[in-house]
Amino acid sequence: MRKALYPGTFDPVTYGHIDIIQRACDLFDEIVVTVAINPTKSPLFTVQERIEFIAESVKDYPQVSVDTFDGLVVDHAKNVGAVGIIRGLRAVSDFEYEFQMALMNRKLAKDINTVFLMPHEKYTYLNSSIIRNLASLNSDVRDFVPEIVQKALKKKFNK
Ligand code: COA
Repeated sequence: MRKALYPGTFDPVTYGHIDIIQRACDLFDEIVVTVAINPTKSPLFTVQERIEFIAESVKDYPQVSVDTFDGLVVDHAKNVGAVGIIRGLRAVSDFEYEFQMALMNRKLAKDINTVFLMPHEKYTYLNSSIIRNLASLNSDVRDFVPEIVQKALKKKFNK
């Protein structure tokens, strides 16, 4: 039984993240998608909302669960019994930051390896900030995020 942890801020989850989760399901028996409580970011959605959006989006994947964590990602990986940390690589610009994080995480926990997966090319330019920005300007985001997120963004910005 090989378990992997997929950490991120997911504010909100996009089809790019879902694409990574689907690919991870081909490699691991179980995936725990974990929503980080990141003090350096001011999220638009609460942790509970972000968990709900992911859970709804992966409801057809019984091997995927969703939780949250505060603290070190490697500690949470150990707590859930994960042997791998999944990260998405979209472009060369992601590489340096991800490489640094992966090596630091390996220094902290030598038995846990980071696995990088590339999403479909059509999602390489996607990130959560762009989605929040588009939605705040009343742009249609249905091609980029699950329906539950699309509705929540509409509600948030169409007050
Ligand atoms: N599709 C679309 N967007 C993607 C994506 C994909 N496949 N992969 C990443 N992104 C985007 C995210 O939407 C996010 O966009 P935003 O910054 O515009 O909101 C951006 O890339 C950053 O990704 P995210 O996964 O949220 O990473 P992060 O930089 O917020 O880091 C943790 C999250 C949890 C991995 C990191 O903060 C962490 O490890 N924290 C715990 C503390 C710790 O252990 N520190 C030691 C590590 S060295």
